[in-house]
Amino acid sequence: MHDGTVTSLFSADARAFLPSAIRALAPLLNDPSVLSFAAGVPNAETFPARALGEAAERVLASMPARALQYDVTRGFLPLRERIAERTARRGLSGDATDTILTTGSQQGLDLLSRVLLDPGDVVLVEVPTYVGALATFAARRARPVGVRRNEDGLDLEHLTEVVTRLRAEGSIVKALYTIPNFQNPSGLSMNGPAKDRLALAAEELSLFVLEDDPYGELSFGDAGAYDATPLASRSPSSVAYLGSFSKTLAAGFRVGWIQGPPVLLARLELGKQSMDLCSSTFTAAILESYLAHEDYDAHIDGLRDFYRGRKETLLGAMAAHFPPSLSWTDPKGGLFTWVTLPEGLDARTLLPKCVAETRTAYVPGESFVVEGDGRRFLRMTFAKESPPNLVEGARRLGAFFRGEIG
Ligand SMILES: Cc1ncc(COP(=O)(O)O)c(C=O)c1O
Repeated sequence: MHDGTVTSLFSADARAFLPSAIRALAPLLNDPSVLSFAAGVPNAETFPARALGEAAERVLASMPARALQYDVTRGFLPLRERIAERTARRGLSGDATDTILTTGSQQGLDLLSRVLLDPGDVVLVEVPTYVGALATFAARRARPVGVRRNEDGLDLEHLTEVVTRLRAEGSIVKALYTIPNFQNPSGLSMNGPAKDRLALAAEELSLFVLEDDPYGELSFGDAGAYDATPLASRSPSSVAYLGSFSKTLAAGFRVGWIQGPPVLLARLELGKQSMDLCSSTFTAAILESYLAHEDYDAHIDGLRDFYRGRKETLLGAMAAHFPPSLSWTDPKGGLFTWVTLPEGLDARTLLPKCVAETRTAYVPGESFVVEGDGRRFLRMTFAKESPPNLVEGARRLGAFFRGEIG
C-alpha cells in the first residue's frame, strides 16, 4: 500500500494522537555537549543498580517459574501488598485488592482515560499540567479544559465557574486531573488545607479525581514538614490514585499502580486485559524482593537530600545570574522549577538560538499550558546536571536572557 492509503486507514483516535513536543526537541536536548535543564527524568546516579541486580538474582533463584510467567491482570500480589502497606502509611484505605499494577503511571493514565472518558468529554486540568496526560486525553479525543493554579492549590472559584459554565453549555464534565505534590512542570504543591478544600469542592461538583502522584515522596522538608497525604485519603470513593516507582527507584522498570474504589478497579482490570494481559511479573517480583531486603525509606531519604542539594544549587545560581525581570517557583520537592519570562519573550522561538549560543537547554512551557498564553514560560529541572554544571548553565542562561531583554 502507499503511505497515503495506510494513513487513510488510521482511526479517528489515531488521527487525534498528539506528538510529544518534548520528544520532538530530542535532537537539541540529547546532545551531550549541551547542558540540559530539559530532560524530565530522574538522575541515573540515583538508581540502586547493585541492589536491584541482587534482587533479580534472588528472584530467578527462588521463583523462576512464577516470576517468568503471566500473572493475574492486577499484577504480582506480593508487590501490591507492599504498595498498599506503604500507601496506608500516607492515609490511603485500600488494600492489595484495590490496587492494580500498571506499566508506569503513564499506562495508568491511559487506562483511566479509556474507562472514564468518551470523545468530547471534558477533563479539567491544572494550568500548567503534565504534557503526557494531555497526550493521553487527546488519544481519547477528550477535551482538556484548564483551571488556574496558584501557589497553594487550585483556584476553586475558577474551578466552580468553569464547571458551571461548561455544564450549562451542555458539556459533559466528568473528571479533574491533578498533581497535588511537587507538580510537573510547575514544582508547586498543595498544602493540607488546600487539599481538604479541593476534595470537598470535587465532591460538591460531582467530579471524579485522577490524582497523579509520582513525586509525593520526594519532599525536601523534614519528615512531617509537608502534608503529603493524598486527596484519595480524603475522598476514597471518588479518587483514582496513580503511583509510580519511576522517580523513586528506576524509571526503566516501568512499574506504577492505581488505587481506587472497587467498582472502578474491576473495570480497569477489564481494560488492562485487552491492553497487555498484565504488566511484567518479572520486574514486579524484583521490586518486591528489593523492598523486602533493602531499606527503601533510607533510599528515599537519600534521594530527598540529593535533589534538595541540586535544587538549592540551581536556585542559588539563578538568583545570582538571572535578570530581575524573570521569576521562578521555589519547589518544596520533586524535580522542577517553572520560570516566567518578561512580557514579549517567547521561550519556544528562543530555544534554538539559546542552544546554539549557550549550549544550554530548557523546555518551553507552551505545551504544558492548555489555555492562555504559554509562551512566556519554561520548565527547568535540577535533576540531571552536576552542581558545577547547574551553576555554569544558570550563568549562561542568565547572560542569554539579559541579552534578549536588551
Ligand atoms: C506527572 C507525571 N505523571 C506521570 C508520569 C509518567 O511516569 P511513569 O514513568 O510512571 O509512567 C510522569 C513522568 O514524568 C509525570 O511527571
